[in-house]
Amino acid sequence: MLNPRQILHGKRIVLVKAEKSFEMAKLHIAEVQDSLPELSPWLGWATPEYKIEDSYEYLLGCNQKWEEGADFTYVITTEDIPFMGTISVFNIKEKDKCVEIGYWISTKYAGNGYMQEAVSLIEKEFFGLGLNRLVIHTDVLNIKSANVAKKCGYILDGIQRQNNWVVAEERYRDTNTFSKLKSEYVESK
Ligand SMILES: CC(C)(COP(=O)(O)OP(=O)(O)OC[C@H]1O[C@@H](n2cnc3c(N)ncnc32)[C@H](O)[C@@H]1OP(=O)(O)O)[C@@H](O)C(=O)NCCC(=O)NCCS
Repeated sequence: MLNPRQILHGKRIVLVKAEKSFEMAKLHIAEVQDSLPELSPWLGWATPEYKIEDSYEYLLGCNQKWEEGADFTYVITTEDIPFMGTISVFNIKEKDKCVEIGYWISTKYAGNGYMQEAVSLIEKEFFGLGLNRLVIHTDVLNIKSANVAKKCGYILDGIQRQNNWVVAEERYRDTNTFSKLKSEYVESK
């Protein structure tokens, strides 16, 4: 079972295991609600109906999955900001040494390169734990998310055609699969 560190220090940010507390749920819901227009096109759970109870339940789930080694969700923080967004490692395939990375950041902190820094911290930790392949899936229309993957040096494996039924739009959308292999990983200075 993977056993990553709970705190990962970067140059500007610190990734911290998402804790299950009401305080954290309050921080989470505030940023979700502030960023709904930017989150909702890409993250099915981000709707106006999403409430603090959902945040708390989400954090409980994160905590349980961490204990089980099933998913690892970190909160993106700085010295001054206790919650900017989250980055998760999930869909863990132990035999294939492959995991998926998912992320979002509050709109007020986007556009500063924080997610690229978060991805590079995850790479360092999880390649360091022996993984061989990290995957990022992005909706083909989500240019900003694809840019994170591209700028972090991920290669487009291909496009999964119409693999995602978007309830709000009542249509299928295509998904990019980006990946980085351990042999391609160069630790950033
Ligand atoms: C996609 C998303 C995670 C990007 O987050 P981000 O922190 O803005 O991403 P980055 O770290 O790549 O930074 C992006 C920008 O910061 C700029 N930047 C500013 N300072 C920088 C620095 N010091 N280092 C690197 N980039 C910097 C980059 O040039 C880049 O600009 P560009 O988008 O015009 O090319 C964010 O927009 C988001 O949460 N979107 C909604 C949810 C979502 O789509 N999640 C992903 C689902 S697959």
